[in-house]
Amino acid sequence: MPAEQFDTVILGAGAAGMMCAIQAASKGGRVLVVDHAKAPGEKIRISGGGRCNFTNLHASAANFISQNKHFAKSALSRYTQHDFIALVERHGIAYHEKTLGQLFCDNSAKDIIAMLLAEMDAVGCELRLTTSIDSVERRATGFEVRLAGSDTSTVHCRNFVVACGGKSIPKMGATGRGYQIAEQFGLPIVETRPALVPLTFGEDVLVDFREMAGLAVDARISCGKAHFDEAMLFTHRGLSGPAVLQISSYWRETQPIEISLLPSEDIFESLRAAKKANGKRSLATALGEILPKRLAAYASRFAGSDGPLADMSDKVLGAVADKLKHWEVYPIGSEGYRTAEVTLGGVDTAVLNSKTMEAKAVDGLYFIGEVVDVTGWLGGYNFQWAWSSGWAAGTAI
Ligand code: FDA
Repeated sequence: MPAEQFDTVILGAGAAGMMCAIQAASKGGRVLVVDHAKAPGEKIRISGGGRCNFTNLHASAANFISQNKHFAKSALSRYTQHDFIALVERHGIAYHEKTLGQLFCDNSAKDIIAMLLAEMDAVGCELRLTTSIDSVERRATGFEVRLAGSDTSTVHCRNFVVACGGKSIPKMGATGRGYQIAEQFGLPIVETRPALVPLTFGEDVLVDFREMAGLAVDARISCGKAHFDEAMLFTHRGLSGPAVLQISSYWRETQPIEISLLPSEDIFESLRAAKKANGKRSLATALGEILPKRLAAYASRFAGSDGPLADMSDKVLGAVADKLKHWEVYPIGSEGYRTAEVTLGGVDTAVLNSKTMEAKAVDGLYFIGEVVDVTGWLGGYNFQWAWSSGWAAGTAI
């Protein structure tokens, strides 16, 4: 039996793959999307606590990490957050800004999946679930793709799009298959590592952190030149919360991270004012007015002083504040791909066309979304990259 013919086969019915399919099929091409999962867009479904932080009002190339910081500019500027918001609005999906430009569905992340499926349906995309690929081979006029899973037929396509994401959350079906395909075609991979992931610590540090497990506090967390002002969360394994997830994308083994508690508060001035108002109070009590109580108790021990404020000179109070503003800790690792929201690194952008996402050396082979070495900050940026890169490839096909 001759192989079924498609203009485009897309591996992965995630955010990037579905967006690409809609664009590619809207011009009349026959498009097949295959995914080994039972349902499309599983990461969309669980994202943003079930409400999907689908984009960010402030998205620009500055919010992405890549070996080539200019690579994402073209796609992000041609299909912007405003284009995606317009699509969401056309489908009547209610949404709100939570914080820092982060847009979430009012109702459910499933609304975004339903929207993408409706768009795919409208332009006649075919979707085959519980189907993967066994092999993809270059042929004179395109690619021969041997499917695997529920469908074991061989199909032929002019364009083959790799949209199967990264390695994060293997339990949800992440396979890293996209990197193997890149390697098969001789394309280099920028080393991958878990990102947007909680950081873990040794027993010496955990003894104290465990006391504070569950506490959230505003902090500026820095590593090298990068810093983020957001909430930080103490856990039984170490540190989590938005500020820590953000810095995890920049942290490397053996480096310290610096925690500056309450970035918008002058702790020294607060302590001086507390001493003036009532010098009989202990340092822990005074700190307890600006920090959670358990953290205040720990901080006063950590600062090496818990007498009445009246006995503390401004120099001592300054030293206490200084410690809380420059608290250096050494993570020993991260929770890894098991909980990482994204994979840092991926297909080297040097071998991709930034306008089309096509491999420069392999006509008709495209890479989009998380599999590419473009990683967004926390806050809707990663989905925006999936929409923009998917749109760029789908439009070019
Ligand atoms: P994605 O992973 O979405 O899709 C890849 C698809 O390929 C999947 O459907 C998978 O089943 C399929 N696949 C993989 N291997 C295959 C194989 N061998 N054969 C067939 N199919 C295969 N980002 C954001 O901007 N806002 C947010 O709120 C969140 N929240 C969030 C929460 C959690 C818990 C996680 C893990 C991640 C997020 N993210 C996020 C990140 C976001 O989910 C991610 O960046 C995008 O889903 C990436 O889109 P892709 O389409 O590239 O991959």
